[in-house]
Amino acid sequence: MAGSTGTGTVAGTEHLFKVLVIGELGVGKTSLIKRYIHQLFSHNYRATIGVDFALKVLNWDPNTLIRLQLWDIAGQERFGNMTRVYYKEAVGAFVVFDISRRSTFDAVLKWKSDLDSKVKLPDGKPIPAVLLANKCDQQWDGLENNPAMMDRYCKDNGFVAWFQTSAKENINIDEATRFLVESILANDCIHVSENSDTDTVKLTEDTEETVDKTQCC
Ligand code: GTP
Ligand code: MG
Repeated sequence: MAGSTGTGTVAGTEHLFKVLVIGELGVGKTSLIKRYIHQLFSHNYRATIGVDFALKVLNWDPNTLIRLQLWDIAGQERFGNMTRVYYKEAVGAFVVFDISRRSTFDAVLKWKSDLDSKVKLPDGKPIPAVLLANKCDQQWDGLENNPAMMDRYCKDNGFVAWFQTSAKENINIDEATRFLVESILANDCIHVSENSDTDTVKLTEDTEETVDKTQCC
């Protein structure tokens, strides 16, 4: 399977994790991924068409290599009917909203229930989802910056955690990713498969980057 594969070798274990990045239009999904992988940020907005992919290779620990396949899903409504296809075999997700646009927070539960209705872990549980309150370099709109309220919201709505992030200022992106990967690893759903390549999406080489866990996460 493409989403979660663990392959044991003499040298250690390799995992391929498919992770979704979802949320309303313009909340900063592509910017977060660009910052995480290429350490770049741009103020220019170009809407994602359909879906984009990025791959990051993490030397998680001396015995574990993780290939993180990030699926950057367009927020535009007209691509919404494709999400079932895009979500297939994902093992984790970021749901992103923009703290400076209240309407994007109001849409979080729509994205979460879309996710939970279309993809599940092999044991039927929801895949771990981390909520990202992005653009934290800006002012909150229509909501207080209230960590206790956000903690409660996450508990009530099945998010494993939430982080305030900024793609612009590079805040908390590595931390949020590390938390999500830890949640994925903690799930007892890592399947060893000899034929794991059969339906893996091919990614272009230029999106791939190898980093040390100590540097990136
Ligand atoms: P779609 O592809 O249409 O779904 O949008 P998206 O969620 O991928 O948003 P994108 O990353 O393209 O960012 C939209 C706009 O927000 C761009 O102009 C970015 O420069 C800006 N932006 C993204 N992240 C941040 C941030 O952390 N802070 C600030 N101030 N602006 C940001
Ligand atoms: Mg985008």
